[in-house]
Amino acid sequence: MLGGTRAVARCAALGRAPYSDRTDGLYRGWLTPAFRIAREQVAAWMVEAGMTVRTDAATNLIGRYEGTGDGPPLIIGSHLDSVRDGGFYDGPLGVMLGIECVAAQTRRPPFAIEVIAFGDEEGSRFPAAMLTSKALAGVLGDVPDMADRDGVTLAAALGGFGAAPERMVEARHPGALAYLEAHIEQGPVLEAEGLALGVVTGIAAQLRFAVVVTGQAGHAGTCTMPLRRDALTGAAEMVLAIETIAREANSDLVATVGRLEALPGAANVIPGEVRFTIDVRSGDAARRDRAAETIRVALPAIAVRRGLTLSIEPVHDLPASPCDPGLMTLLEAALVDAGHPARRLVSGAGHDAMVMAALAPVAMLFMRCREGISHNPAEHVEPADAEAALTVMLGFIAKLGDSCA
Ligand code: GLV
Ligand code: MN
Ligand code: MN
Repeated sequence: MLGGTRAVARCAALGRAPYSDRTDGLYRGWLTPAFRIAREQVAAWMVEAGMTVRTDAATNLIGRYEGTGDGPPLIIGSHLDSVRDGGFYDGPLGVMLGIECVAAQTRRPPFAIEVIAFGDEEGSRFPAAMLTSKALAGVLGDVPDMADRDGVTLAAALGGFGAAPERMVEARHPGALAYLEAHIEQGPVLEAEGLALGVVTGIAAQLRFAVVVTGQAGHAGTCTMPLRRDALTGAAEMVLAIETIAREANSDLVATVGRLEALPGAANVIPGEVRFTIDVRSGDAARRDRAAETIRVALPAIAVRRGLTLSIEPVHDLPASPCDPGLMTLLEAALVDAGHPARRLVSGAGHDAMVMAALAPVAMLFMRCREGISHNPAEHVEPADAEAALTVMLGFIAKLGDSCA
């Protein structure tokens, strides 16, 4: 089987139990049983490709293929965790293609290649995201106390992997020549233009908040409408206000409430508490911040009018992250050498590359995905497009080698 095709097939194999935490679709949360066994399987594939393998203090899996020189390595990486009910390719494909880049080496490159599988790019289990790449890039800071939706703390989950929140910083990497990440586009641009691949120019700034709206739980049959302090109807108005603010920006600004939980959650009880998430993004950090500020003014006004209390906690903040201009030129040259039109595009989705930009110059290659669908089980990538990506990645590695000579 050719390398790109094998990379796609391996992602599909990882999409099912035991590599998924559920049997009716894919969810692979960070530090779950599925994460553990997937990481073991990926380590075995790394060894098969000729790498030595280790895990670091942040639970990242690192495969290393020595080069002829002893300078900093080229890192190729992406993530193994998935969203809930996700697709097979968001994350793992970048790791599998990294492994294929090593498997395809016919002689030692002038620099070592490290393939890294990160743990929590999505933030789908704990409220924060990208903790493992932050630790590796040396930008983690304090890790706040947090628990997943079942009440399992991060400390307990890390403990099961022989790790601890306060020790994650030990994963700090000594530095890299460059960081390369290949990823499905997760949007419709390449497919609409009939292109297999594109070079990413930068990644949009992200901001996430955890919101708690508190009212008063009460009897659904006896409490009259004027007397209610219903946390869910208040939250509903807040969700619509957030949508309106994003729509009225009439730009690349997007805002999403992706998770909402009403408590106590019974048909005959007025909801006394609602918890929801807000995710705000834009290629322009100032625009994102203005929208977040508007949201932070609008929501309390709704709460006050309805007699509710409100807390809005920032849980994740990443600035817009431009890719390295020199590496973009190199990647684009490899794209053109392989017979593809030069196409550059921005990423609305977040990637570990945003964080890795603190450690090394970053390049990203996007692959077309069917109908631009992602964060959805219908996510699909053609093996031929993964083959094309692998060819371009190998061309990039050769050019990087030439530029170091
Ligand atoms: C990750 O896929 C994100 O963009 O949230
Ligand atoms: Mn994702
Ligand atoms: Mn991803």
